[in-house]
Amino acid sequence: MKKHVSLMLLLISFSGISQQKSIDQKVNELLAKMTLEEKIGQLNQYTGDHAVTGPLTMNPNKKEEIKAGKIGSMLNVLGANYTRGYQELAMQSRLKIPLLFGLDVVHGYKTTFPLPLAEAASWDLDAIELGARIAARESAASGIHWTFAPMVDISRDPRWGRVMEGAGEDTYLGSKIAYARVKGFQGNKLGDLNSVMACVKHFAAYGAAIGGRDYNSVDVSERALWETYLPPFKSALDAGAATFMNSFNDINGIPATGNKHIQRDILKGKWKFDGFVVSDWGSIGEMINHGYSKDKKEAAYQAITAGSDMDMESNSYRYSLAELVKEGKVSESLIDDAVKRILRKKFEMGLFDDPYRYSDAKRQQKELNNPENTKAAREIAAKSIVLLKNEANTLPLSKATKTIGFIGPMVKLKRANHGFWAIDLKDVDSSYIVSQWEGLERKVGKNTKLLYAKGCGITSPDKSGFKEAVDVANQSDVVILSVGERHDMSGEAKSRSSIGLPGVQEELIKELQKTGKPIVVLINAGRPLVFNWTADNMPTIVYTWWLGSEAGNAISDVLFGDYNPSGKLPMTFPRTEGQIPIYYNHMSTGRPAKNEDDKNYVSAYIDLQNSPKFAFGYGLSYTTFKYSDLKLSKNTMAKNDKLEVSVTITNTGKRLGEEVVQLYLRDKVASIVRPVKELKDFRKIKLSAGESKTIVFTIDDEKLAFYHENLEFKSESGSFDVMVGASSEDIRLKGEFELSE
Ligand code: BGC
Repeated sequence: MKKHVSLMLLLISFSGISQQKSIDQKVNELLAKMTLEEKIGQLNQYTGDHAVTGPLTMNPNKKEEIKAGKIGSMLNVLGANYTRGYQELAMQSRLKIPLLFGLDVVHGYKTTFPLPLAEAASWDLDAIELGARIAARESAASGIHWTFAPMVDISRDPRWGRVMEGAGEDTYLGSKIAYARVKGFQGNKLGDLNSVMACVKHFAAYGAAIGGRDYNSVDVSERALWETYLPPFKSALDAGAATFMNSFNDINGIPATGNKHIQRDILKGKWKFDGFVVSDWGSIGEMINHGYSKDKKEAAYQAITAGSDMDMESNSYRYSLAELVKEGKVSESLIDDAVKRILRKKFEMGLFDDPYRYSDAKRQQKELNNPENTKAAREIAAKSIVLLKNEANTLPLSKATKTIGFIGPMVKLKRANHGFWAIDLKDVDSSYIVSQWEGLERKVGKNTKLLYAKGCGITSPDKSGFKEAVDVANQSDVVILSVGERHDMSGEAKSRSSIGLPGVQEELIKELQKTGKPIVVLINAGRPLVFNWTADNMPTIVYTWWLGSEAGNAISDVLFGDYNPSGKLPMTFPRTEGQIPIYYNHMSTGRPAKNEDDKNYVSAYIDLQNSPKFAFGYGLSYTTFKYSDLKLSKNTMAKNDKLEVSVTITNTGKRLGEEVVQLYLRDKVASIVRPVKELKDFRKIKLSAGESKTIVFTIDDEKLAFYHENLEFKSESGSFDVMVGASSEDIRLKGEFELSE
C-alpha cells in the first residue's frame, strides 16, 4: 500500500515537472519564432476605455497595434463580450499570441466587499480569502485574467488615502492577509476558470510616503524595509502570487520602477520569483519627472535593466527598447527573459488552448452577484464593522422600537457603498446595492415607523437641513446618525491633511445630541478619522467604513444584534493629525512616558495625552470575554525548540460572540532596539454565552527573530515578555520566558 502511494506521488510530481517542462518548451519554441518587435510588443500594456485609472497617454491606433502584435496586455477592458472583441483582434496577429486582460478587482467585482482595510478589521482570514475567491469567480467569468491586487503596502499614516486599500499598519497581520488574498484570487491553480492571477503591489514601501502624501518619496533604512515593508510581499509570494507591480515612489533616492536592488536582487534573485513584474501606471515614464531619467529611452533602459518586465501605459518600451537593443545597450536576452515570464503565464492560464475561455457571457450571467456571493458579502461586511463605544448599551436595538429616525448624508446613498477602487459597472443597474436605509427597512417589522432626514451634505457648509433633522430626532425613540467622509475621499491620490469629519457633520451631531435622544453614530470612512468631540460625547459609535454592495443589510444585522460585532481596528486611530505617524509597535525610546499624562522629560507631546484615541486591535462586542490561566509550557526555550502559550477565554456575557485573542511579544534586551511589543499571533474564536475555550499559541524561533544590522534574520538569547490581550493596549495576561542558545 505504502509503495503504491509513493509510486503515485512520484507519478504526480513527475507529471507536474513534465507539464512545467512542456510549458517552458512551448515558450521557447514560440520565442524562437518572434521578431524583436513582437517580443517588445509582449512587454507593452495599454489601457482600454473603461474607468480609466490614471493619466492617459494617447494610443489612437490601439486596435491596429494589437493586430500587429505590438501589445501584450490591456487593462481596463472588461465584460465577456468586450474582452472577446479585443481578443479577436489579437487572433489576427501573425503569431496569435493572446492578450492578457488586467483590472483592479480590489474588493469585489459586481458583488463588492468591504474596503480591504475594513475587511482586515474582521481578522478573519477565511472570510478574507472567500471575498477574494468570489471576486475572482465573478471577474474571471467577465473575461478578466489578472487582478491588480492584493495591495499589501504597510502604512502607518492615515492621511495617506490608499490606506483603504491595504491591511493597515501591522506587518504580521498584513502578511497573513496578503497570503489569504492571493490564495483567494488564484484558487487551486492558475488556469482554473474561476481563478485570476494576483498582482502583489506596490513593490515596494509605497505606504511609507513621507507625510502620507500620495506618490511622495520614501526614505527607509534597509533594515526597516526588511522588517516592516517586505514581509507581506514575501508572504504573498509564498502563497504563489503570479505577478508583482512596482511602485511610483523612489526608495532612498532610486525610483522603485528603476530599482535593481529590489526587483532584480531581492525579488527575482534572493526570492527566486519566476513570474513577471508590471510597472505601475506610467511609472517608467515618470522617472523623467523624478529627475532620474533624461528621456523615455533612458527610462526604458533603467526599468528593463532593473527588472520591470511590462510597461503599463508609459509607451517607453514600445518606442525605445528596439533601438536600445540595436545599439547594444540592452541585450536581447534581457528582453527574452521578460517575454518568457509573460508568455509562461499566458500558457499557464490556458490562453493558448483557448484565448476566449474566460470571456463567457453565460458564465458571467450565472456568476455575477449570485445569491451565494451576496450572502458571503453580507457576512463579511458584518464581520468588518467595529463597535467603538456602547456605553449605555443602546445597542443592539430592539426590533420592537416604535419610531427610529435615520439621519445623515450617508443614509440613502447607493453606489457610494462600493467605496473607492470598486469597479463601478456603470452599465449595470445599481438596484442590487443595499443602501443603509434599505437595510433598515428590511430589518424592522410593520410596527416600526422609520423617519428620515439628510441633515446636511458631506462636505457642504450648509446647515439648513439641521432643523428637519432635529424634528425627526424629537419624534424618534432612537436615532441612527450616519456620517463620515465621502467614499472617494480615500483612495489613490486622496491624501488628506486633516482627517476630521468633513463639512458641518460634527455640528449636526452636536445639535442632535441636545435632543437627549439615544443616538447611534455610524462612521463611514476609508481610513481612521479624527472625531474627538464625537468620541468623547457620544456614547454609542460604530465604525462602518465602506462595506460594499451588502452594506445596508450588514449594518442592520449589527445594529439589531443578528450579528454580534467582532471587528478589531487594523490601524491606530490618532487623537490629532499631529500625532501621526502613530503605531502600536514603535521602538522603545530612552525616555518612555510612565503613564498617559507623564510629561516629565519623556518622549511625548506636551499638549496631548500619550495614548492614541483608539488602539490597534481594539473593538467591542455585545458580550464580554474573560481571559484567564495563562500558561507557558516551559520557562526556558532553546533556539531550535518551541514553546506553547495557552490561555482560557470565557464568554462572560449573555450572547454568542467572537473574540480576536491577540498574542504580543517583546524582546527585552537585544543588539538592535526592538519595538515595545509586536503582534506575533492571533486567533478569532466563537463562544456561546458562558462557554470557555482554551487556545494554544506556539512560539518558535521565527517569531523571535529579527533583522540585524547586517540584515541577518535571527533571534538572540535572553528574556521575552509574553502579552495576551483584547487589543494592543488592553493586555489581559502577561508571562515571561528565556530563550537559550
Ligand atoms: C495604481 C495601481 C493600479 C493601476 C492600474 C495606478 O494608478 O497605483 O494600483 O493597479 O493604476 O489601474
